[in-house]
Formats: sequence, structure tokens, C-alpha cells
Amino acid sequence: MTDPLGWGRRYLMCPPSYFRVAYQINPWMVEEVVADAGRAREQWDNLVATLRAAGATVEVQPPEEDWPDLVFTANAGIVNGNQFVPARFRHPERQGETAHDVAWFADAGFGVSELPIGVCQEGAGDALPVGNALVAAYRFRSDAASHAYLSHLTGAAVRSIELVDERFYHLDLTLCPLDSRRAIIAPLGWDRYGCAVMKALIPEPLVLEPDEAMRFCANSVVVGSTVVMPACPPRVGRQLEAWGFDVAVCDVSEFLKAGGGCRCLTLALDVTLGS
Ligand code: ARG
Repeated sequence: MTDPLGWGRRYLMCPPSYFRVAYQINPWMVEEVVADAGRAREQWDNLVATLRAAGATVEVQPPEEDWPDLVFTANAGIVNGNQFVPARFRHPERQGETAHDVAWFADAGFGVSELPIGVCQEGAGDALPVGNALVAAYRFRSDAASHAYLSHLTGAAVRSIELVDERFYHLDLTLCPLDSRRAIIAPLGWDRYGCAVMKALIPEPLVLEPDEAMRFCANSVVVGSTVVMPACPPRVGRQLEAWGFDVAVCDVSEFLKAGGGCRCLTLALDVTLGS
């Protein structure tokens, strides 16, 4: 028996009005590469429409001219009921986003709990609920030290895993919870201990091949029984369909130029940790 996820029906997204590849803070970003603004907007609109058609609600955060990566709302912070723990970004290029994120959440009625200064943590990009636990990753963007604070602030049982492959610099490039027993995983991004932790937490994983992981298959958004994916190779699609999921592929090629896919463009607002 598998129960659907208890979250994933309400999202925060930010339109790509000022999105561009303005700097290089992950291996996918190449400064000379130009993202097409019109196509980015079309792809973002299509992602919003696809999530809504799957039954999700999408709330929109206003874009800000100086912060091109603000579109990747997954990194804004961690939501726990009506509590919001804002990110502390590793790179100065993104640090200015936080004031806008905090303003949005405070305005929306969330209580804001801050991590200590100097401890990096990049929000849901590096922390996803799996069952009753919060799986949190560290190394490239988030510090291992953030995990004890996250646990203290939210009360969640945090399971730490180390990311080992810079191409998968955020947890959400390697993990997509599907339901109470299943998840799409890319263990090539995790150290051996992390693999063991995840094996214990996920009885039925869909393990991505390296080429599938490189297409950001794990960077998908799950709305009930619909999986919204940046790409879906046939093998992956067959397994998801055999499990009873519908797959919707959304082309997010302009955002891949900045190292982000479907999940990175969304932040679930209906997460209550430990439930
Ligand atoms: N350019 C952004 C960065 O490097 C992409 C963020 C992708 N977000 C994610 N949740 N994986 O920070």
C-alpha cells in the first residue's frame, strides 16, 4: 500500500522577468550562454499551467530586478506549517534574495525563524521531507552545521546526507519523493553513508542511471499522482506509469542553462514536517 504525499498541492513561484545567466555558481552555468527571455517566460507559464491542471495552487512572488535566480523559489527557505526558515545562501550572488523572500512570507502570515548568521542552508533545494523525516544535504551549498539548527527550529527529525558530485550541487537534483514508499533517486550524488540512509527511508526507489540524472529527472514536482518532469526517458516513464503516476513533461531548457529544473522553480507551501 502506498499513500500519496501529504504535501505538494500549493506552491510559490516567481516569474522570470529578470532571469538570466548572470554569473557562474554551479557547473551548469556558463556566463557566455544567453537565456532567451521570451522562451523562459513561455516555459514558466507552461509550468504554472501544468501544475494548476494537475490540481495544484500556485502563488506568485513578485520578481526583483537585481536577483536573476529569484525564479528558483525552492531555495527561498524551508516551510513547516506556518513557520518559514529563510535560506542563508552560500554565494553573495544570491544573498540579496533573502530579504525579498522574508518579506513575502511575513506578509503571507508565516512566522520567520532564522538560522544563525554564517551557517549556510539553501532551503528546500537542500532539504526535502521523506516520510516523517526531513532529509537534508550538505557540502556545496549548505553546511552540515545547519542541520542541528534546522532540527532545533522546526522540531523535525533531520537525516543528513553528504552530496559528493558537484553537478548535483543541490539535494533536489538527486531526490524526488513520490509517495509514502517511493522516490526518484540519483544515488551517484551521495556518499556511501547517504546511500545507506536513503535505502532505509525509501523502500521502493526509482534509481536513475547517470544519463537520466543528468537530464534532471529527479528535479520533478509531484502533485498527487502527477509527476511534472523536465524530461522523461522511456524507462523512467514506464516505471512511473506502472506505479500509477501520470507524467507531464515541461520543457524548462532556458532554466537548465542556470542549473535549475521544474522543482527548483517551485517551493511547496503546504509542508508540515513530521506529519
Ligand atoms: N542558478 C541557481 C543556483 O546556482 C540554480 C538554483 C537551482 N535550484 C535548486 N533548487 N536546485 O543557485
